Amino acid sequence: MARSGKVTVVGAGFYGSTTAQRLAEYDIFDEVVLTDIVEGKPEGLALDMSQSRPIEGFETKVTGQTTTPAGDGYEAIAGSGIVIITAGLPRKPGMSRMDLIGVNAGIVRSVTEQVVKHAPEAVLIVVSNPLDEMTALAAKVSQFPAQRVIGQAGMLDTARFSYFVAERLGVPVGSVQTLTLGSHGDTMVPVPSACQVDGTALADLLGADEISALVERTRNGGAEIVGLLKTGSAYYAPSAAAARMARAVALDTGLVMPVCTWVDGQYGISGVYLGVEAEIGATGIRRVVERELTADELAGLREAADAVRAKQSDVASL
Ligand code: NAI
Ligand code: 2OP
Repeated sequence: MARSGKVTVVGAGFYGSTTAQRLAEYDIFDEVVLTDIVEGKPEGLALDMSQSRPIEGFETKVTGQTTTPAGDGYEAIAGSGIVIITAGLPRKPGMSRMDLIGVNAGIVRSVTEQVVKHAPEAVLIVVSNPLDEMTALAAKVSQFPAQRVIGQAGMLDTARFSYFVAERLGVPVGSVQTLTLGSHGDTMVPVPSACQVDGTALADLLGADEISALVERTRNGGAEIVGLLKTGSAYYAPSAAAARMARAVALDTGLVMPVCTWVDGQYGISGVYLGVEAEIGATGIRRVVERELTADELAGLREAADAVRAKQSDVASL
């Protein structure tokens, strides 16, 4: 298989390291670079991943690089076509994603400044929390064209929703199609009109109360896992989501995915980074894809936009 390009994952914690491993195992990149400020951690993880190459049979080179907040070590990311920012603190039980905003804003700001310096052509995929605000911050700091800054949340929330539906109905996950839009938080907007199981509307298979319960579990999907793990948050499903987005960019697939992106008039909403469906390709977001929503769904999305816009406007000062 032809391999090409370089992808960097900033932050070699649980999210970053699993993302790097998935990207390497796709075997479509020349190189995956993993960085972190903890000395030796990215190098050690990269060496470990590299030693899995003969077993898993992939040739993508995995490089680890310790960096400093001042920017030492960032030369290693030069030429990256995609940079995924996972640096930042995860939640602890009882914390909301917004509790992370102060400290993670400082981290995301300094990482983004280095990305601009060393990989100015990259498509940025942001995952650090609170996601919608950190995506807006990375966009402001980088001044990259809006289509080159994408946040990951909708892929994860939608996957959680699909899993809960499949589990409840005892059907293969592949037969379930669901969708969530809006924010990665309290104003996540489920889209029941887009939910089907083998072509049958979800509303014909489950009662409204049951669907609401699954939606509520999805909305609290991250907190449920934080509560079980006690330290740290989810990373297997989140890393799958970010890696698939990077793959869509690398292979210029044009796949439509729910992602956090700049909304400029779609659904009557403007001036906000929000979870909507978009076609993903080599340039990042090719276009936002608008679908027919019910009046309730549209009202929910507009409400989410207002809530997120208010928080995003404060982010530049952090
Ligand atoms: P973690 O604590 O395992 O890893 C974070 C890593 O970032 C650590 O290794 C730390 O040393 C590193 N780091 C901190 N400052 C840095 C800097 N300036 N430069 C480079 N690296 C730096 O946390 P985990 O589980 O990997 O989560 C990372 C972030 O992703 C958290 O903010 C978490 O809330 C978020 N997250 C987002 C999800 C989403 O759907 N958007 C889902 C799951 C987690
Ligand atoms: C999640 O949803 C914590 O945002 C993270 O798992």
